[in-house]
Amino acid sequence: MARIGILTGGGDCPGLNPVIRAVVRKAVNHDYKVIGIKNGWRGMLERDTISMDLDTISGILPKGGTVLGTSRTNPYKKEEDVQKVVENFKQLELSALVAVGGEDTLGVAARLYKDFQLPIVGIPKTIDNDIAETDFSFGFDTAVNIAMECIDRLHTTAESHHRIMVVETMGRHAGWIATYAGLAGGADAILIPEKPIDIEEVCDLIMKRHGRGKNFSIVVVAEGAEFKEGTIVTQEGDVDEFGHVRLGGVGHVLARLIQEKTGYETRVTVLGHIQRGGSPTAFDRILGTRYGIRAVELIMEKKFGYVVCLRGNKIEEAPLEKILGKIKPVDEEIYRIAETFFG
Ligand code: F6P
Repeated sequence: MARIGILTGGGDCPGLNPVIRAVVRKAVNHDYKVIGIKNGWRGMLERDTISMDLDTISGILPKGGTVLGTSRTNPYKKEEDVQKVVENFKQLELSALVAVGGEDTLGVAARLYKDFQLPIVGIPKTIDNDIAETDFSFGFDTAVNIAMECIDRLHTTAESHHRIMVVETMGRHAGWIATYAGLAGGADAILIPEKPIDIEEVCDLIMKRHGRGKNFSIVVVAEGAEFKEGTIVTQEGDVDEFGHVRLGGVGHVLARLIQEKTGYETRVTVLGHIQRGGSPTAFDRILGTRYGIRAVELIMEKKFGYVVCLRGNKIEEAPLEKILGKIKPVDEEIYRIAETFFG
C-alpha cells in the first residue's frame, strides 16, 4: 500500500485540521496509508510520526490548531539536516509528502523538490494571506473575523470614553488582516506595511473627524507597518530559524504619538495570537477541505512540485518554486475602498 506523509509547519492557524481530515479521508478512500509527521519539518528530522486513519481524524473538523503539532524548524539551516530529511523520507517509505505551511515551510518543500526531486505537494496556510500565487490562504478569513469582532467591541468602549483606540493586528510584512478587518469593522484609519505611516496625516484625519463632531476613533495598524522615516517596530533579540524578527509593538508607539499630537486620550489593544486561535470559519473549513482533496488528486496524478491555490473560485496549482522569496502585498483596490471611510 502506497504511503503518503503529511506535515503542518510554521505558525498554526484555523483550518489546518480540516486540511488534515480531507487529505486522510481522500487518501484512505483511494487505499493509501497516511503517515502524520509531527511538528513540521522537525518530525521529518526526528522521524516522529503517527499513523493516520479515519479514527484519528474523527471530530477534528471544527478544532483550531493542528492535531499534528507544528514548529518553525528549518532543515536547510544545517547541511546534515537536509540529508537527514532525505534519508528519513526513504526510511519512512513515503511515496509522496503533503507539506502544509506558509512561505517558509513551502520554501523548504520547493527546495527539497528542486534539489532531491522529493515527491512533494504544498498547501498554502497562513492568517497573513501573503503567499504568492493564491488569492487566499486558509486561516485568513477566521483571523479577519476575530479581528473584526474585536474592533466592534472596541467601538463601544471608545465611544463611551471619547477615546482613540489603536488596534494592532498580525500579518507580518503585509497588511491583509488589518485592511480586511478594518474595512469590515469600520476603522477610521488603517495603517499597513505597503503604505508607510505619515503620523501628521493620521493625526489630521483624526482631528478632521473630531471636527465634525465624532469624539472617538478607531485606528487599525498592522504589526509590520513602517513609519515614513523607515522605522519598523520589532521585539528585541528574537530571530527564528528562517531569519525572521518578531514583529509587534507598533501600536504602542503609534498611540503615544497620536495622544501627544492630538491631545486625545488614546489606548492600545494588541490582538496577538487571539487571531490564530479557535474554530475555523465555514470559509476556511471549506477552503482547507478543497485544498486537501486537490493535493491528494495531484499525488494520484503524480504531479509533484506544485502548490495548490485558489484563483477566483477555482482550485488550481502553481509550481512551488514560484512562491519562493515572494510576499503578496495587499490588493490596492480593496485598500482604496477602505480609504473612502477614513477620517
Ligand atoms: O505568520 C503568522 C504569524 O501569526 C504572523 O502574523 C506573526 O508575525 C507571527 O506569525 C508570530 O509568530 P509566533 O507565533 O512565532 O509568535
